[in-house]
Amino acid sequence: MSPWVLYGATGYTGVLLAEEAARRGHRPLLAGRNPQKLRALGERLNLDWKAVPLEDAAGLRALLKGAGAVLHAAGPFVQTSSPMADACLDTGCSYLDITGELPVFQALFARDAAAKAKKIALIPGVGFDVVPSDCLAAWVAAKLPGADTLELALAVLGQPSAGTAKSALGMVPGGGWVRRDGALVPFPPGKGVHPVRFSHREALVVPAPIGDLVTAWHSTHIPNITVCLAMPSSLAKILRVAWPVGAVGLPLFNQLLGFPAFRSRLDAQLERRTAGPDAEKLKHGSAHLYARASMKGGAFAEGWLDTSDGYDLTRHAAISAVEQVLARRPEGALSPSQAFGVDFVLGVPGTSRRDSLG
Ligand SMILES: NC(=O)c1ccc[n+]([C@@H]2O[C@H](COP(=O)([O-])OP(=O)(O)OC[C@H]3O[C@@H](n4cnc5c(N)ncnc54)[C@H](OP(=O)(O)O)[C@@H]3O)[C@@H](O)[C@H]2O)c1
Repeated sequence: MSPWVLYGATGYTGVLLAEEAARRGHRPLLAGRNPQKLRALGERLNLDWKAVPLEDAAGLRALLKGAGAVLHAAGPFVQTSSPMADACLDTGCSYLDITGELPVFQALFARDAAAKAKKIALIPGVGFDVVPSDCLAAWVAAKLPGADTLELALAVLGQPSAGTAKSALGMVPGGGWVRRDGALVPFPPGKGVHPVRFSHREALVVPAPIGDLVTAWHSTHIPNITVCLAMPSSLAKILRVAWPVGAVGLPLFNQLLGFPAFRSRLDAQLERRTAGPDAEKLKHGSAHLYARASMKGGAFAEGWLDTSDGYDLTRHAAISAVEQVLARRPEGALSPSQAFGVDFVLGVPGTSRRDSLG
């Protein structure tokens, strides 16, 4: 197997990925920007390491030279994805990341032709965002050819890492989005609360501007897509009546986020208060997904997918994705289901899927 690089190896998720890679007998080159943290991790796992900041364009190209793939785990990816993708396209190294950020998917899918010309793959979202949702979306879409509407809903029972919380915060100024007639259109944040029956229970969900609005479109070509997240019922009940207040308040909050001092105080709070699940929580967390493809006339196909904690899924799916890229060498900008097939997610321990046709 060709050599590969794990960039961002010392973050909460990066360490999980490094440990999973080592457990499977891989020897990725651990990389990131902090030499002290990299040295400690490299010594613990007996793996080589190299510190290269993303701003060092020549150093990044030297890092990737001769590597078959880089698994990029340093986020928020709106800040980190583009220098790494540039270096991949220059050196002929395939790019995978664990983003869930909508603009990152848009930017990478826009580079499809460049990736094909270089015979490399650009595969964003090989973690919890978007492996299970993308595989489920493509699976229900295949059951109803000609579907014109897709609803995806995710219920995640677990706690986020600081990096995830910061990335989610970074999406707030972008506002809400849904896909209509093939195009992304703005959607008022907090509007559209409704119940969804997940396999474990019914929950209230709200439309959210997450990466599936791009990946499900590429994977299914269904023109109308809404992606929803389950939320605590207390918050959902408030949003049901109060979303117009939130929609008016959001621009004010966005203005505050635009002040670097305010944003860095919030980031520091998140770093202090959100640690990511410990080993015990990783074992017991779970996630539940629902997808419904439908068409005019009333026909529909539904699917449910239950899986492990989001970070547990991420470590399994992302390392399996690297293995597949190195073994099969897919080309172009691809969603996980396009690159690895709709059953890829079933390889993650503790994952099951069922369907129903209307
Ligand atoms: N798709 C999914 O389901 C999924 C799952 C897990 C995580 N994620 C995403 O993965 C990212 C990391 O999450 P995490 O839990 O590992 O967060 P974390 O613990 O905060 O780690 C972030 C890592 O990224 C590095 N980093 C940040 N900005 C950088 C930059 N400009 N240049 C170089 N390195 C940089 C940090 O380096 P320092 O240590 O030097 O600060 C750290 O190693 C987040 O965006 C998160 O949303 C997605």
